[in-house]
Amino acid sequence: MTDTAKLHVALLFGGQSAEHEISILSARNVLAALDPSRFEAVPIGIDRAGRWLLQDAARLLESARDPRQVRIQDGPPVSRDLLAAGAGGAAGRIDVIFPVLHGTMGEDGTVQGLFELAGIPYVGAGVLGSAVGMDKDVSKRLLREAGIPVADFRTLRREAFEADPAGTLAPLAALGLPLFTKPANAGSSVGVRKVTRPSDLEAAVRHAFQFDEKVLVETGVTAREIELAVLGGHPASVSVAGEIVVQHPDGFYSYDAKYIDESGARLELPASLSAATLARAQALAAHTFEVLECDGMARVDLFLTPEGNLLVNEINTIPGFTAISMYPKLWELSGLAPSALVSRLIDLALERARRRAALRRSAAP
Ligand SMILES: Nc1ncnc2c1ncn2[C@@H]1O[C@H](COP(=O)(O)OP(=O)(O)O)[C@@H](O)[C@H]1O
Ligand SMILES: [Mg+2]
Repeated sequence: MTDTAKLHVALLFGGQSAEHEISILSARNVLAALDPSRFEAVPIGIDRAGRWLLQDAARLLESARDPRQVRIQDGPPVSRDLLAAGAGGAAGRIDVIFPVLHGTMGEDGTVQGLFELAGIPYVGAGVLGSAVGMDKDVSKRLLREAGIPVADFRTLRREAFEADPAGTLAPLAALGLPLFTKPANAGSSVGVRKVTRPSDLEAAVRHAFQFDEKVLVETGVTAREIELAVLGGHPASVSVAGEIVVQHPDGFYSYDAKYIDESGARLELPASLSAATLARAQALAAHTFEVLECDGMARVDLFLTPEGNLLVNEINTIPGFTAISMYPKLWELSGLAPSALVSRLIDLALERARRRAALRRSAAP
């Protein structure tokens, strides 16, 4: 039985990115945090083939916590035509959508465009903020333009690289060692490698090109990894800071260090920072959120060098909500429990939809 008085919140998860499994783990926790007195969950899983399938909430809640063991359940197909879906499709009525999708085709503005066309309010950044935040090349260029420090980097495009691999890589020696190679559009460290020997660079770049047409090669920064959670509209609130302490043989916060090896990394909550450094980090996170056109939520990842300089590494517009994820933990530490956090995010989505509905669509007086 569906409760018509409650807001029907579609949780959209899974998806066709390399972070499919992580998204399922995140969705499970968002579902668990959904206040049952206000919301009715409509879990929709996107399988690897891109099919939208209605999921059973109880089974999702019982699912494993290990990314190697979770999968999208078989279920009634849900039309991606969200306008039609509201009119009696398998998902029934949808009042607001919470995309819990990481990576391409979820965090990059594509699905947000679909929500816009369907006129359904949704949580998090809009089309532009999502697309910008997903692309490490475009976001770093915007940050640099705003005077926000980022690691030195070069962007390689597949065609130019394939036409002349050696000639493309030669100038990168100026970036020093170690180097980090990464797909411009990815996440969860998928496709990222730390290169400590020049002879390994070409293989690392080729590896990253398996995941995207555009690859970044960055100067490796020796720094602490500090993360902050941002919530809200404008101005946004910023949480206390957390730190990722990597203890993995990969020597950086790799996919294995994140999700596979339980002792691969430790979260320091809160990060041990002076009040002044915390304040600087919070201001930088809020500025980054503004510059990158974000909305609702984001996690901003910083590097803190031994000299005390802060650099922005990246922004995640749909941060992880897994059991080990920083975003919900940082808010909990800042006094906002997961259930209140999820309610706030949904309220922000509804407020934005109301604001936008009030905009004039015509030049007529
Ligand atoms: N320029 C860099 N200097 C030092 N470490 C880096 C650099 N770029 C990435 N890393 C390491 O690689 C990890 C993943 O890279 P990141 O750019 O955050 O990609 P993702 O979006 O996949 O998380 C970081 O958490 C960090 O440990
Ligand atoms: Mg990262």
